[in-house]
Parts: sequence; structure tokens; C-alpha cells
Amino acid sequence: MSPNPIRVTVIVGSTRDGRLAPSVAKWFEGQIGQRDDMVTDVVDLLDDPLPDSLDPNVPAVRALRPRLAEADAFVLVVPEYNRSIPGPLKTAIDCFQAEWEAKPVAFVSYGLSMAGGVRAVEHLRQIFAEFHAVGMKDVVIFPRVLEHFDAEGNFPANSDGCDAAAKTMLDQLGWWALALREAKAKHPYGT
Ligand SMILES: Cc1cc2nc3c(=O)[nH]c(=O)nc-3n(C[C@H](O)[C@H](O)[C@H](O)COP(=O)(O)O)c2cc1C
Repeated sequence: MSPNPIRVTVIVGSTRDGRLAPSVAKWFEGQIGQRDDMVTDVVDLLDDPLPDSLDPNVPAVRALRPRLAEADAFVLVVPEYNRSIPGPLKTAIDCFQAEWEAKPVAFVSYGLSMAGGVRAVEHLRQIFAEFHAVGMKDVVIFPRVLEHFDAEGNFPANSDGCDAAAKTMLDQLGWWALALREAKAKHPYGT
């Protein structure tokens, strides 16, 4: 492990009963786990639901703030809901501001249609522009996501292409995380 690894926080962006998100997030966590330049923290929005009131003093918000603040980079695991993102993920984003600012963000998306969640990703790019966050050019998408599960429920059933896509995206994320970490050490963001 490198001496000062990049801290990548993975956000599990769906909270509904029967969600597929944990399978997708677990696979991606494994991709980060294979690298010696990154460590990961997984934030599951179901664990400690964030308030629609966006009240900064609610315990769930207070508990999550330092975990997000420590992150050098984010990976959002996002399903497409009605061509956009799930409501609880938008609430989670809206509960914070400085914690997202000037950091790189990568996207793993999925959906039942052939679009593979890219419309949710494109909405996230617009949202994260507000924080001067940098969205990774390459994304990992799973079109017709149910077809990526095998009969035993393993995900993904065939990992060749998606492992390679994950590596490309994480390489980009790592470059930006180091570049922005160095830049912010010299010139704190927003000052
Ligand atoms: C409210 C809702 C809207 C959806 N809209 C879309 C959509 O626009 N495009 C798509 O490909 N799949 C859509 N789906 C299918 C989901 O992307 C798919 O069920 C996925 O598994 C949801 O993620 P989750 O299981 O982790 O919650 C929708 C599902 C729900 C529940």
C-alpha cells in the first residue's frame, strides 16, 4: 500500500426494498481493493437515512460529514430512476456542500433499460458542477442490469469488460485526486 493512499468514498445510491445497489457496490469495492494506491469507505444511504429537512444538526448528517470531508474522491453507485437519480441520493447530496467541493467524482450506473443509467449520470454531472467537482470522463455502466446476474445471483456474471472499465475510470479518478489534493494543499479551495 502506498504511504498516503487516495481515500475513495463509495456512495450506495439506492435505498429501496429489494435494491440491487449492494451487489453493484460490492463488486466495485472489490475493484478498489485490488489497488495499492487507494483505500475505500462505503457509505450506504440506507444505514442512516438523511433528512428531507436537510437539517445539518440531525445526527445522521453530523455522523456522515467527517467521513465525506476526509474523502479525496467519490464513486457514486447510481441506478436510473425515471431518467434521473433516486430521491434519497439527491437528498444526501443536498445535505452537504464543502464536503463535495473540488473533488473528483466517478460514476457506476445501471438500470433495466439499454441506457444503463447514463441519464442519471448526466444529471449527476450537472449537480456536481455546483461544487466545482470534476466528473470522470469514462463511466462504468450496466445496461439491462438483470442480465449481469448469473443464476446464483453473482454479479457481474462476466466481469472481463467491466473490470477493465473500472480500472480505466479509477486510473482517471486517482490522477485527479492527487492533482487536486496537491493543489488544495498549496491553495485551499475557495480562499
Ligand atoms: C421509480 C423507478 C424508476 C425507474 N426508471 C428507470 C429508468 O428511467 N430507466 C431504466 O433503465 N430503469 C429504470 N428503473 C429500473 C431501475 O433502474 C432498476 O430497477 C434498478 O435495479 C434500480 O436500482 P436498485 O435496485 O438498486 O434500487 C426504474 C426503477 C424504479 C423503481
